[in-house]
Amino acid sequence: MKALILVGGFGTRLRPLTLSVPKPLVEFANKPMILHQIEALKAIGVTEVVLAINYQPEVMLNFLKEFETKLEIKITYSQETEPLGTAGPLALARDKLIGDSGEPFFVLNSDVISEYPLKQMIDFHKAHGGEASIMVTKVDEPSKYGVVVTEESTGKVERFVEKPKIFVGNKINAGIYLLNPSVIDRIELRPTSIEKEVFPKIAADNKLYAMVLPGFWMDIGQPRDYIVGLRLYLDSLKKNSSSKLATGPHIVGNVLVDETAKIGEGCLIGPDVAIGPGCIVESGVRLSRCSVMRGVYIKKHACISSSIIGWHSTVGRWARVENMTILGEDVQVCDEIYSNGGVVLPHKEIKSSILKPEIVM
Ligand code: GDD
Ligand code: MG
Repeated sequence: MKALILVGGFGTRLRPLTLSVPKPLVEFANKPMILHQIEALKAIGVTEVVLAINYQPEVMLNFLKEFETKLEIKITYSQETEPLGTAGPLALARDKLIGDSGEPFFVLNSDVISEYPLKQMIDFHKAHGGEASIMVTKVDEPSKYGVVVTEESTGKVERFVEKPKIFVGNKINAGIYLLNPSVIDRIELRPTSIEKEVFPKIAADNKLYAMVLPGFWMDIGQPRDYIVGLRLYLDSLKKNSSSKLATGPHIVGNVLVDETAKIGEGCLIGPDVAIGPGCIVESGVRLSRCSVMRGVYIKKHACISSSIIGWHSTVGRWARVENMTILGEDVQVCDEIYSNGGVVLPHKEIKSSILKPEIVM
């Protein structure tokens, strides 16, 4: 089986992290987002993943080379000369996706995180016999997603409305599809949206079916959702492989600590924290609801909550970093600084407090 991952887009909502690496390579729970997906695809027997990409394919491919061998999966790319939206890339990658077997293939948005129940999706797809299956999930704020209205008993999609302005329902498109090759015949090679131009037509032909995704789901393409997603992911890890979580008197709730990270005396860490490889956390530090990327240095008595600390940054002694502060790569926060929602570009030094949420360039 094959799969295509939509990795285009500039990831602007996840800046400043995406100023250093493309969005799919930003770590989530100590692993690049896209690796969560590739591993899940491999686990159900996908043999080739095509990355639909519109800029810098080399960065992604060089990074993924190591995992091609480790995971024994073929990773190729299909590069657009102009952004083709969410459907155009399928037409472009036509020859890579369709083999002789007539098998369906997976399509994934690159920024969605879940337990990827792909095996169940294959069974669902076979059972309904339609042309396309999509995963749906319930959310509180459907207007920022694609809303899907289904026939309750069968899952047949009656309507698909992308980013509706008025309430149509609370089941939304989770960005995980299983499509028959014939779907590509419906797509022209031009910038076009699968949500606006393709799914509504398949639904009108009564051939689009939606499966309610079991377990958690989150689009982690923006900081606030990324932090919520981390909580949901760690919750699920707790249920399914709790041995991966940190334990000890200094740990509260679900915490992931890379084995090469060093944690000092008298810290209090958690809930919902991920600490990446090579991090140094000195004594008396308090961390909660935050992601600390590779190589970060957190000095004594710093306190960080609801924030993302970019690669190789330093947080000074007694500093207080909170409320969706996002530090880009290699940021230095001086001792005793307070950051309330500062979004700090890479390589900056912060010498005075950031009192209200703002971008620091
Ligand atoms: N190759 C390529 N080319 N990929 C693209 C392009 C493009 O021109 N534009 C967007 N993508 C990729 C993005 O990188 C992402 O993986 C995916 O397509 C969806 O784009 P987003 O920009 O993240 O869309 P969204 O989050 O607003 O909405 C989509 O996802 C929601 C679920 O998270 C839609 O599919 C919604 O219907 C859905 O509910
Ligand atoms: Mg998205």
